[in-house]
Amino acid sequence: MRTQVPQYLQEVLQACERNDEGALADYIPELGNVDPNPLAVAVCMGDGTVYGAGDADVEFTIQSMSKPFVYALALHERGLEATLQQVGVEPSGDAFNDLSLREDGRPQNPMINAGAMAVHAMIGGPQAPLRERTDMIVDGLSRFAGRQLSVDEEVYASEFATAFRNRAIANLLRNVGIIEQDPRDIVGEYTRQCATTVTTNDLATMAVTLAMGGRNPVTGEQVVPAWVCRYVLSVMMTCGMYDAAGDWMTTVGIPAKSGVSGGILGALPGQAGLAAFSPKVDSHGHSVRGVRVFEHLSRDLNLHLMEVQEARVRLLESSREVKLRDGLARHLRLRGALYFGSVERLLRELADIPDEDTVVVDLSDVTHINPIGRRMLLDAMEQLGGTGERRLVLV
Ligand code: DON
Repeated sequence: MRTQVPQYLQEVLQACERNDEGALADYIPELGNVDPNPLAVAVCMGDGTVYGAGDADVEFTIQSMSKPFVYALALHERGLEATLQQVGVEPSGDAFNDLSLREDGRPQNPMINAGAMAVHAMIGGPQAPLRERTDMIVDGLSRFAGRQLSVDEEVYASEFATAFRNRAIANLLRNVGIIEQDPRDIVGEYTRQCATTVTTNDLATMAVTLAMGGRNPVTGEQVVPAWVCRYVLSVMMTCGMYDAAGDWMTTVGIPAKSGVSGGILGALPGQAGLAAFSPKVDSHGHSVRGVRVFEHLSRDLNLHLMEVQEARVRLLESSREVKLRDGLARHLRLRGALYFGSVERLLRELADIPDEDTVVVDLSDVTHINPIGRRMLLDAMEQLGGTGERRLVLV
């Protein structure tokens, strides 16, 4: 059966296509030569269903959108402690290519170039041969995407020839011992990582893999463990959009990462991966139309993570008496999701009911129960049901 999603995505693109603001990221000469017009959006659902609209076939380089995935690979391979020793998790509020390190020598976070180069250098350990490290990284990105990706050697060569600022950053990293390799080599291979090519469908699939706890729903492969995704999504939320992270958080509210090629990906925990692409970027390096696309998606589909979900707290729809075969019972009809906050309130309601009453807890309108909600409810059933005359019945 077709859903209304494809039609909706077309409408979003129509609403954004007239926007002509921004400029090509021509500090990478090859990106200054691309067609500025393509516009695409893709959504990959938690079960692996992919919806795409617009120029879904256009390939472009992943650039900084590789950073969360390589961070995930490093966390998985080297462990949390070793990774935190090399790079922090604090938002810098500075541009992606900021030329500074924290007082302790570490880059602020893995989303800015300094942190991303430090993370790149960790894969395979410091002694790994350069190209082997990059191959491991491209293979890792491919497992997130569910297909074999490759590097655009022209974009790589064009950026590497002019990567003077990244070389300055890598020299700083070498000076404080965060990287042990030749800084020029690390810049080269990090640049190659950034020149891996993708489509919006790839990005949406990569994002949903993070959103679903590390399991790629298209291939079924567990690419990284769930704890890694919690770290990565948190860092995307606070640092993924650099010096526009606050704006992004308030207006869109989805953990995200942008790239100067014009892509933006967003990972909505437990639900979907989203991606947009259009090459012209703003002063932060974010696709202008891509930001608009995300604003639409967030607003229209209610995706902002800080949206207060009323169902989560409005637990009791009614509290009346129902007839049971052997008498009357108090009827508690629960509505919404049983999480810590809502179950805690339910348990207080139950405590107020006289001991001799029978209580029917009606779960027919409960939309979701998380593990802590379930445990609290079952524990309470056992405790409350076992005292006095009261009976608790779950229906
Ligand atoms: O290192 C660079 O400058 C580029 N390879 C990537 C920068 C980037 O994508 C910034 N994000 N919006």
